[in-house]
Amino acid sequence: MTQDELKKRVAEAALQYVVDNTVIGVGSGSTVNFFIDALASIKGRIEGTVAASEASAERLRKHGIRVFDLNAVAEVPVYVDGADEVTENLHMVKGGGGALTREKILAAVAGSFVCICDASKLVPVLGRFPLPVEVIPMARSHVGREMVRRKAQPVLRENYRTDNGNLILDCWGLAIVDPPALEAELNDIAGVVTNGIFARRGADVLLLGGDNGVRTLLKEGFRGSIR
Ligand code: A5P
Repeated sequence: MTQDELKKRVAEAALQYVVDNTVIGVGSGSTVNFFIDALASIKGRIEGTVAASEASAERLRKHGIRVFDLNAVAEVPVYVDGADEVTENLHMVKGGGGALTREKILAAVAGSFVCICDASKLVPVLGRFPLPVEVIPMARSHVGREMVRRKAQPVLRENYRTDNGNLILDCWGLAIVDPPALEAELNDIAGVVTNGIFARRGADVLLLGGDNGVRTLLKEGFRGSIR
C-alpha cells in the first residue's frame, strides 16, 4: 500500500470514535485531510466541528460541515489529529504543518485525543523529526540561542507565518528522552508560544495504519468507548 492509502485507511478507522450529536475536534495535515473527507460521509450525525487550522476549516466547509469557533462550544468530546512522530506511550511531536498551538489548545479541551498515523511515524525516541517551536517574532534570536544552549540546531522556517502571525523554529538534533519535562522546560522560555512536544497531554488512542491493517494502542487506563 502507498503511504496515502495507509493514511486513508487509518483516517477511516477513526470514524468509530466519533460521538453522535457532538462537536468534533479536527486537527490538520494530510492524514487529517483524509479524516475530513471520511467525516463528510457521516456529517448528518454530528453537530459540527472545531478546526486546528484555517486549511482544515476551509476543507470542512467545502464538504458542508459546520465549523464553530472554539469559544462558542461547551465541550469537545473527541479530537482527531495526526502526528509527525509518536511513541508507544502515546507521546508525540507535532507541528510539521505549523498548526501546533491551535492543536495543543484543542488537545487540552478535548475529552479524548485520537491520533491517526501511518506506521512510519512510530519511533522509539522522539526527536529525529525537527521539533517545531512557535515563537513571537521579537523573541526569534533569544529563543534560537536558548535552543542552541540545549544542543539543538534551530532553523527558521522560511517565508512562513503561523495562523497566529508567529514564526516557527524547526529544531534539529534533540534526543527527547523525557518528553513531558522538555515540553514544560521549552514552554518556559520567554517568547515561546508553544513547542511541538505533546506529552503532558498526549494521545488517548493511537491508530497506526500498516499493510496488515490498523493497530490500536490505548493509553493506560483509557476508558473511552467506541461505537
Ligand atoms: C500539523 O501542524 C501537524 O501537527 C500534523 O498533525 C502533523 O504534521 C502530521 O501531518 P501529516 O498527517 O501530513 O503527516
